[in-house]
Amino acid sequence: MKKNFLVTGGFGLLGVSLVNFLLRKKSKVVILDYKSNRKHFFSNTKNLKIEKGNFCDYKVVDKILKKYNFSGIFHLGAQTQVLKGLNNPYETYKINVFGTINFLEAIRRRKLKIPFIYSSSDKAYGELKKKFYLENDKLDASYPYDTSKSSSDLICQSYSHTYKIKVGIIRSANIFGGYDLNLKRIFPETILSILNNKKLLIRSSGKQKRDYIYVEDVSRAYYMLYQFLSKSSSKLKIYNIGSKYNFTTLQIVKKIYNLMNKKPNFIVKNYSKSEIKNQRLNYNKIKVELNWKPIFNLDTSIIRTIDWYKKNIKKI
Ligand SMILES: NC(=O)c1ccc[n+]([C@@H]2O[C@H](COP(=O)([O-])OP(=O)(O)OC[C@H]3O[C@@H](n4cnc5c(N)ncnc54)[C@H](O)[C@@H]3O)[C@@H](O)[C@H]2O)c1
Repeated sequence: MKKNFLVTGGFGLLGVSLVNFLLRKKSKVVILDYKSNRKHFFSNTKNLKIEKGNFCDYKVVDKILKKYNFSGIFHLGAQTQVLKGLNNPYETYKINVFGTINFLEAIRRRKLKIPFIYSSSDKAYGELKKKFYLENDKLDASYPYDTSKSSSDLICQSYSHTYKIKVGIIRSANIFGGYDLNLKRIFPETILSILNNKKLLIRSSGKQKRDYIYVEDVSRAYYMLYQFLSKSSSKLKIYNIGSKYNFTTLQIVKKIYNLMNKKPNFIVKNYSKSEIKNQRLNYNKIKVELNWKPIFNLDTSIIRTIDWYKKNIKKI
């Protein structure tokens, strides 16, 4: 029988990639997202259903779990903007924390035995105080977006420990790729400013370091974690996923200019100070246990990303 997955936030950067991945595996997919219909993002829509709705409403979540017989849930939907988190912490906590609880609670009440995969982040660890983060490090975030991720990460763990719900948690590095419609993120903003011949304004100091990972490597990790959990008796698995590409914002921006054959044209504003300075993930655990590793080379994946924006600039 075909597997049937729920993907929340399926119209987002990671969502589109994961949904396409699952459709290629001949699975059925239901997207729950409150954005307007973006069905045209998917090449094969025969096995795809869209449920427009807000998962902050428990009734919406419960209804969807009642309606479909899911094989697994990928909860990717979230308020994902660090800056928006600073300006609107209430909304960020509501969506990211209560939205997540709604799924865990509906799974608990309905006694579902299916894996629930949660999209945590390297930001859940807070400021880097050593060489890299390991999965058993304390989650020690400070800023609202980051804390919304560490809280929901811990709440997922709590539901798994207490109610034996099957939970998989992925703490991912900074993701990039096509289909990212958060146009203030560094990749879309840099690429679009170049395509539009505009000067790029960098809000931060440009000096903070992050690991960068191509979206298709990330969606493959999500699927591999689901597969593992669906066959194993483990109730909880947590993995970091990252890459060898640890760069400052300025280094990434310059790389994009270089790959687009343009001279750098940006100004560093440095007014966004409430951000983690340095991040670096150790992802050895998933390499050893699930045999996952990033396979996309940085330049190739940046070029693919640039090509997507070139092709779609008029539609976004
Ligand atoms: N992008 C990254 O660099 C990164 C890194 C680590 C972790 N993550 C996590 O991965 C997940 C996916 O990230 P992304 O970059 O694809 O996000 P995104 O912002 O591109 O997409 C999020 C999607 O969730 C939907 N959504 C938000 N709130 C909703 C609600 N209340 N009800 C229904 N739909 C809602 C939005 O409409 C959007 O389509 C998030 O949980 C994010 O925190 C992202």
